[in-house]
Amino acid sequence: MDHFALRDGVLHAEDVPLPAIADAVGTPVYVYSRATLERHARVFREAVAGLGEGEPLVAFAVKANPNLAVLKVLAREGLGADVVSGGELARALAAEMPPEKIVFSGVGKTRAELEQGLDAGIFQFNLESEEEGVELAGIARARGIEARCALRINPDVDAGTHDKISTGKADNKFGVPIGEAEGIFARLSALGGLRLRGIALHIGSQLGELEPLETAFAKVGKLLESLRAAGHDMRHVDLGGGLGVPYKDGERFPSPAEYGAMVARATAGWGVRLVFEPGRVIAGNAGVMLTRVIRKKQGVRDPFLVVDAAMNDLARPALYGAYHHFVAVEPRGAQETANIVGPICETGDTFAMGRECDALEAGELAVFRTAGAYGATMASSYNSRGFVAEVLVDGDKFAVVADRIAAGAIMDAERVPEWLA
Ligand code: LLP
Repeated sequence: MDHFALRDGVLHAEDVPLPAIADAVGTPVYVYSRATLERHARVFREAVAGLGEGEPLVAFAVKANPNLAVLKVLAREGLGADVVSGGELARALAAEMPPEKIVFSGVGKTRAELEQGLDAGIFQFNLESEEEGVELAGIARARGIEARCALRINPDVDAGTHDKISTGKADNKFGVPIGEAEGIFARLSALGGLRLRGIALHIGSQLGELEPLETAFAKVGKLLESLRAAGHDMRHVDLGGGLGVPYKDGERFPSPAEYGAMVARATAGWGVRLVFEPGRVIAGNAGVMLTRVIRKKQGVRDPFLVVDAAMNDLARPALYGAYHHFVAVEPRGAQETANIVGPICETGDTFAMGRECDALEAGELAVFRTAGAYGATMASSYNSRGFVAEVLVDGDKFAVVADRIAAGAIMDAERVPEWLA
């Protein structure tokens, strides 16, 4: 459920009519709903409450939506952060997410990033390789401390999602093969400098089925037993994120409650504190991208709706062939079949071909729905279009939470060397 709905024929975000935001901020612009973010955070927290030892840690996957105001809303709901770079760690801290609620994942943490995590006193590093463990152990020993960490394993299951967002198959770059985990645990524990006390996994994103997760969790359960038998003090398991959300009307996805029930089954008797890293399920349907039709151009078959948003603002359709529902802000009731495209000079800049959608004319507003996750954060300035703005709505008020970075400001950061002038 989200808080974007038609009222008197005009699409609103909570109590704010979207044309008011377009007038004040311009388009394209991402619009997030605070009430929706809060609702999703609560629903997820409730779905996993009481599972495992102590209160589970729900660490929002910052990559899904790193906007500071969004992180602040989630921090106030008690969520922590799953970060994958020094930049994301700095954001989580700036949003006042407590270090003891921050986990650091990522296959290529640099030495500087490992240091940054230790400086901050984060909850845990999720090690993605033995090599990373060796480096972290060295840094921690030099400081005379033990770095809290878990080993990310690759369970070799097919998550059944798009290849580019699948992470748990044997030949993916993430984690260590599950069969090698015991040896790595033994060697890393012997080094000193690491408090290696857990297992982490994440098999992919936009998962439509719970079975692959349950299969992976069962493998983790077995590994947990063998590691305990080998004398390791196992305290945490980080089950990652991945729960999918509906992008099309009428699509059905496992609910957080169904996910929670599966986790309860799969982890019964583990005796560990559980960590979750949800991203999309928290932020996806909490945002839309608002855009204006620049021009309606005749096509060979269907007309082209050329909108002022492009693949640089919302990359998912171009990158993954992803579907984003497209609706008019002030629908007239009529439908038409159209090709929805941006102004960028490549055919990849196509949001949808032959899409049955609300009839629209030049100058009218529309939104791409389910754009709150992996939307603005994946923006670029391709075609010198600048960076898209972001707005947060709270009841009847709204605020710009990321300025539009104009093409000129990006140009200002570039230099022509003296010897070219
Ligand atoms: N934890 C780890 C270690 C991850 O790599 C990810 C996502 C998550 C948690 C959060 O997954 P979620 O709950 O959001 O599914 N750009 C792509 C999605 C990439 C996901 C990468 N990792 C897209 O637009 O679909």
